[in-house]
Amino acid sequence: MSKRYHESDIPEAAAALKRGELVAFPTETVYGLGADATNVTAVGKVYAAKGRPSDNPLIVTVADAEMVGQYATITPLAAKLMQAFWPGPLTIILNILPGRLSMKVTGGLQTAAFRNPDNALTRKLIATAGVPIVGPSANTSGKPSPTTADHVLHDLDGKIAGVLDDGPTQVGVESAIIDLTVTPPAILWPGAIGPDELEPLIGHVDTAAHHVGQNEAPKAPGMKYKHYAPAAQVVVVDDPAQFSAAVAWAKQTGQVFGLLATDAILAQYPTIPSYSLGKDVQSAAHALFAGLRWFDLHPDVTLVLAQAFSKTELSAAYMNRLLKSAGDMHFQG
Ligand code: TXA
Ligand code: MG
Repeated sequence: MSKRYHESDIPEAAAALKRGELVAFPTETVYGLGADATNVTAVGKVYAAKGRPSDNPLIVTVADAEMVGQYATITPLAAKLMQAFWPGPLTIILNILPGRLSMKVTGGLQTAAFRNPDNALTRKLIATAGVPIVGPSANTSGKPSPTTADHVLHDLDGKIAGVLDDGPTQVGVESAIIDLTVTPPAILWPGAIGPDELEPLIGHVDTAAHHVGQNEAPKAPGMKYKHYAPAAQVVVVDDPAQFSAAVAWAKQTGQVFGLLATDAILAQYPTIPSYSLGKDVQSAAHALFAGLRWFDLHPDVTLVLAQAFSKTELSAAYMNRLLKSAGDMHFQG
C-alpha cells in the first residue's frame, strides 16, 4: 500500500525520496512521479514503476532556478524565460554540464529538460529533500496522465512510497516543452504557454517540431510512443455542428458509444453515456484525462466521440493530447 501524504507529511515524503524511494507529487499540470535525480538506482525504479521505455528521458524538477545551475548552462535566453514563466508550466531544455546527471535521466542525450512547477507543496518537498527530482507524469506508460492523487494510486498503488495529495491539478495537460539548444528555439510539446507569450520575449520560436511525420525521428523521444490511450477507440469530432451526424454514424456501427463534450452538446443526448468537458477549452483541458480514464471504468463503451477545440494556445495543447489518444482518428462527416 502506498501512502497519501499531506502538507504536514512533507518531511516524511522528503526522507523517502532521500532513501531512494518513489514519491508522486502534484503540479499545476498533471501529477509527477518523483525520485532523487542524483540517485541512479532510484531513477531506475521510475522506469520500472511506469513501464516506461528506457530511452525516454525524464524531466528534472527543481525547487528554483538556482538549482538548475548545478546541472546545466543557463543561457541568457533561459534566464529570461525562467524569470518570466517560473514557477509555471514551461519546461526548458538546456545543454547539461558533463558528469552531473545520470544517463538514466537524460536517455544518453547531452541535454536535459528542467521544470519548476507552480505548486508550493512540491517546491517545498524538493527544497526539503535538497535534490532535484525526476518527474515524468505519474501514470502507467501509455495511459492518460493523472490529474488527481486517486488517478496516481489507481495506476501505481503498491509500487511507490506514496503520493503528496494537493487536490486536482489546475491546467490538466502537461507543460509546454521548449528546446533552447537549437536556433530558433523549438516547442517540442505544446502546453498552456505558447508562441503568443514566448515570442515577445525571445523572438521567433519554431512550432513545427511537434508535428512529426510518419517516417521522421521525433525530436522529443516521448513523441514516438503510444499515449493517453483508453481501452475504447476515441474519434475526434472536429466541428460541434457535426455531432448529430457523428452520433448517427456511431449508432449505426452497433457499438456502445459515449460522448466526451461540453455541456451544451451533451444536453442534446441525455441517454448516451457521457463525460462533461464543462463549458470551454479551459475546463476541457482540465477534464480531458479524467474523462479518458472515466471511460476505462466503463468497459462496455468501445467508442468515444470527443469534441475538438481550435484557435487558442491551450486548444493546441488539448488537441495534441486528444489526437494522440485517438490515434489521429477523426469523424469524416
Ligand atoms: O507538466 C509536465 O511536464 C509533467 C509534470 C509531471 O511535470 N511532466 C511530464 O513528463 O509530463 P513526461 O515525462 O510524461 O513527458 C516529458 C516529455 C517526454 O516526451 C520526454 O521524451 C521529453 O519530455 N523530454 C525529456 N527530456 C528531454 C530532452 N532532454 N530532450 C527532448 N525531450 C525530452
Ligand atoms: Mg507522460
